[in-house]
Amino acid sequence: MAVAQVVQEDVQVRETGWSPAEIAELREAVSRAPSIHNSRPWTLTLHRRTAVLRENPEPWMNHDPEGRDRRISCGAALMNLVLAVRSLGWGAQVEVGDSSGLVSAAVNARGAAEPSPRELAWAWAVAQRRSHRAPFSRRPVSELLREKITDAATGVRCGSRWVGSDVEAVEVARMLGRAASAFHADPDYTRELAAHVKPDGRRLQRESGDLRGLAAVGLTALTTHLPDEHHLAQLLRDESVLLVGTRGDRPADHVRAGQAVERAWLEATRAGLSVSMMTQPLHLPEVRTGLAERLGTSLIPQVIMRFGYPAES
Ligand SMILES: Cc1cc2nc3c(=O)[nH]c(=O)nc-3n(C[C@H](O)[C@H](O)[C@H](O)COP(=O)(O)O)c2cc1C
Repeated sequence: MAVAQVVQEDVQVRETGWSPAEIAELREAVSRAPSIHNSRPWTLTLHRRTAVLRENPEPWMNHDPEGRDRRISCGAALMNLVLAVRSLGWGAQVEVGDSSGLVSAAVNARGAAEPSPRELAWAWAVAQRRSHRAPFSRRPVSELLREKITDAATGVRCGSRWVGSDVEAVEVARMLGRAASAFHADPDYTRELAAHVKPDGRRLQRESGDLRGLAAVGLTALTTHLPDEHHLAQLLRDESVLLVGTRGDRPADHVRAGQAVERAWLEATRAGLSVSMMTQPLHLPEVRTGLAERLGTSLIPQVIMRFGYPAES
């Protein structure tokens, strides 16, 4: 290593308390979090053994005027950040706050602390996780695995609920079908989809045109082929569909929802499952409240997730 590089790295360690390798790991973990339209709406800064993640104050999407999706995205990124700090062997003390309507989270690395086997497995899964919107195989997700996923999604003022019975499947299919029809007829939504995807992201807008099944009601644009409600109900019975919700609906609750979603996703990934998530239908207030009513839950719906084994290609 050149002398200049060693000197520069020394300065970096002195100024931030993090080594260059640690900084690279933290940045990598955060960048791998799921985010609305792959927009990564956060900024990560590093200070004396503290990593601070801030919600970006950028103009936001019409379909998410309250910025709920943005904060859920920040929550997922925060989860990855905490796991990265823990897998580097630091204790992680997290403080979430908000000012001027924007959330920020500080992760303080305090003292050496061995990561647990579960934290290590989740940290490993961060790099494997990705959205899988294609159909699943018919292999069911075992009860044991479902329990592990709901356990991972459980947190402070945050929980989850599987869509279970035939009656629920029919009711939920009806609501998702209606939401998809509304977005299908909305050219503004298609424009947003194109505008917010990061240049290095996948082409979500194009992908939406090829989607089939439940994923199609989660990323519906003008070109999406809409499944009928009968088929949707059948898929809701066959796939493992989880509603993640919170007890409150404030910015900190949205961050918690994002953390819960990411934990559930990483737990599933480590077990070889594929996952996709959607919030698009929940942007219609009648769908958000209707889902809670029909599923008889006091949780405020924040995210719908589908889990399964990938179909053989
Ligand atoms: C808050 C939030 C909302 C999302 N909503 C949807 C959605 O409605 N439909 C969908 O197909 N994907 C949705 N996603 C998934 C993102 O599109 C996906 O994470 C992003 O494109 C990055 O791709 P990756 O998950 O494969 O890394 C959402 C992600 C987040 C964090």
